[in-house]
Amino acid sequence: MAATFQPAQHLRTQSIAELYLAVRARTLEIVAPLEIEDYVIQTAEFMSPPRWHIGHTSWFFETVLQKYQPGYRTYSDDFLFFFNSYYEGFGPRIERPKRGTRSRPTVSETKKYRAHIDEQMARFIEQVSSRDETDEILRIIRLGLEHEMQHQELLVYDIKHLLVDQFDAPIKPAPKSVESVSGMVEIEGGLFELGFQGGMGVTPMTHAQDARATFAWDNEKPVHKVWLEDFQIDRAPVSVGDYLEFMNAGGYQDFRWWHSAGWEKVNTEHWQAPLYWEQHDGEWMIRDFAGLHRAVDKANEPISHVSFLEASAYAKWAGKRLPTEAEWEKAVTVSVPGAVATGSSNISGESKSDFPWGDAEPDLSKANLFENGLWSVAPIGAFPAGQTANGCHQMIGDVWEWTTSDYVPYPGFQTDFDEYNDKWFVGQKVLRGGSFATPQIHIRSTYRNFFYPHERWMIAGFRCAK
Ligand SMILES: [Fe+2]
Repeated sequence: MAATFQPAQHLRTQSIAELYLAVRARTLEIVAPLEIEDYVIQTAEFMSPPRWHIGHTSWFFETVLQKYQPGYRTYSDDFLFFFNSYYEGFGPRIERPKRGTRSRPTVSETKKYRAHIDEQMARFIEQVSSRDETDEILRIIRLGLEHEMQHQELLVYDIKHLLVDQFDAPIKPAPKSVESVSGMVEIEGGLFELGFQGGMGVTPMTHAQDARATFAWDNEKPVHKVWLEDFQIDRAPVSVGDYLEFMNAGGYQDFRWWHSAGWEKVNTEHWQAPLYWEQHDGEWMIRDFAGLHRAVDKANEPISHVSFLEASAYAKWAGKRLPTEAEWEKAVTVSVPGAVATGSSNISGESKSDFPWGDAEPDLSKANLFENGLWSVAPIGAFPAGQTANGCHQMIGDVWEWTTSDYVPYPGFQTDFDEYNDKWFVGQKVLRGGSFATPQIHIRSTYRNFFYPHERWMIAGFRCAK
């Protein structure tokens, strides 16, 4: 099974055709342990059944074939309706909460559809270099693959919601903490260049047929100046132990810590703990892919499955606040002068690196991402090789980190693909850094994820600032 769980360093040396095969194969590897009944169930409005993901990611490539492959014949109008997600421009679609209300197309029909699209795409990619719009097509294929990697991560969230420890995940042993990490670091303010700069020490997107080309979403661009005051940021994500203290101090019972929207959730949804926490004989337990564990035994792991509302309440209780996304990005990308990073120069003369550790691709020793195969967060202090020059740990991997920033376009934003990122610029918060379900090749320090403030089925945690 591990054969195509290829690390980023390997994928970067491949052609787009090879990247296509590797990404498409991984989606099927993620769902491989499922039983047929698991594929079609929708356990909540916010999740999608696995069958839908494997069809939808194929539908995306079918829209590419429809647009660019002369004479392409649509596979099935019913499939177009069932597997479109939210793109008004691609016609009517089934409502999201109803994705689990149909038994057709069957799982086997959906897999046949997927195989058909793969066959067509293989031929299409082979001939693409002879086309006038080669670069445009290659960019859209890469975008389709990045889209599929987002769905791979969503599959992990959705399978967890569906089955939790009943899913037979191929879990590898977790690394041990080798360093105790606590306290905050001081970061100097000033002008900061926020966002993705082509050529941040990486190969720019000029050779789109090459998987080495670094992809960035339109929402990470353009790079622009922001002013930051001096600030402090936690060296580690907030841990289960930290969060238990908040809970034991009556955090969920005290309105003073909560935004109005959060207090309303506490009362209407009866929140008493993060998602996947259960109380047994008065003791808090956490259920994950590996089983049921005492929360106290996980005290040194990053807290996960908390909403922005809960993260904010904790921060207020702790006398801190959540960082802005610019503060988070500055903490992760700007090293102390003369340190390891070799990326392009920032205004202040410091260097801005692609990752906390510099410009090298993520590997198993630097961050807990999908390839590590843990299917879980790792203990704090387990990735000393991935820390920033300032000593902030696990900023990439483990949990997406909530920021206090609204998900809005950067000044000068230009859409690369209509209805992809641009239509979500209202009401959501930015999260940074990736999680244990994020593929290595998919993450960057400038990556902006976004969710609604109350959502918590995704792998989200936080660290605080001051
Ligand atoms: Fe999608």
